[in-house]
Amino acid sequence: MSVTVRVPAKVNVQLAVGGARPDGFHDLANVFLAVGLYDEVTATPADELTVTCEGPGADQVPLDRTNLAARAALALAARHGIDPAVRLHIAKDIPVAGGMAGGSADAAGALVACDALWGTGASRAELLDICAELGSDVPFSLVGGAALGTGRGERLRPLEVGGVFHWVFAVADGGLSTPAVYREFDRLHENDEVPEPVASQALLDALAKGDVDALAAFLPGSNDLQPAALSLFPQLADTLAAGRAAGALAALVSGSGPTTAFLARDAASAHTVAEGLLAAGVCKAARVAVSPAPGATILP
Ligand code: C5P
Repeated sequence: MSVTVRVPAKVNVQLAVGGARPDGFHDLANVFLAVGLYDEVTATPADELTVTCEGPGADQVPLDRTNLAARAALALAARHGIDPAVRLHIAKDIPVAGGMAGGSADAAGALVACDALWGTGASRAELLDICAELGSDVPFSLVGGAALGTGRGERLRPLEVGGVFHWVFAVADGGLSTPAVYREFDRLHENDEVPEPVASQALLDALAKGDVDALAAFLPGSNDLQPAALSLFPQLADTLAAGRAAGALAALVSGSGPTTAFLARDAASAHTVAEGLLAAGVCKAARVAVSPAPGATILP
């Protein structure tokens, strides 16, 4: 018997970053939107804990106990006094090290899969607790949809979304380390008084109404990590420009990057933008996806 869980990627439609805290993390106002690009995590009984991975970028995914999916299984097993003898297989479709929470998705997927496989019957609150221990973005990977994350992003308030948004994601040739991007943010702001991060009411209204023009108007400048990501990965400026030239309503870096996100008016326009990005030679792949998408879901 095995259990397979499908988990979505995310884009941050607002990532307001405060100053560095004493613990090194940053307080955030993080508006997460789950998008329909998915990893699938399958948990199967085995002699010992192992991780395998297939799909684009799988060679960059660690297969030892530093893998966030392995850590999720170990955390759940430890809490319930279970032997974590499980094979975790990750079918990757979310860009690796791309700023789309692929590692967090695998952690949330492993947690839900192992919970079902082992029959631990953990409550939603307990699962969310474990998610928050594993990483700032992991709770959102579990819940999906749209949510405002505060604290380091792990405290979630679900948000209403009144429509479907069409996106194109340009996968970059290479990855960015999230801690390195936050360090660059700190360097760029070392002489600034960084304001408290606050979610934009105009953005929350745009999401609630499903108003693509209002969302597009808000997106430029909505990601405080974008200047840091561009500083470390300057070629992304060309990718952003190419997507705008191909008809995207708005272009931004996804989270800490280097994936870039393009909002399109509809499905046809999204395909045009994807073709334009590929023709311009400014990305490794261009993926079309819609939002919102459901959180971690056990597949039948
Ligand atoms: O929480 P997670 O392990 O995903 O965070 C990865 C890194 O990103 C942290 O070690 C930290 O450097 C940075 N980070 C941060 N502030 C946050 C979230 C992440 O500085 N709110």
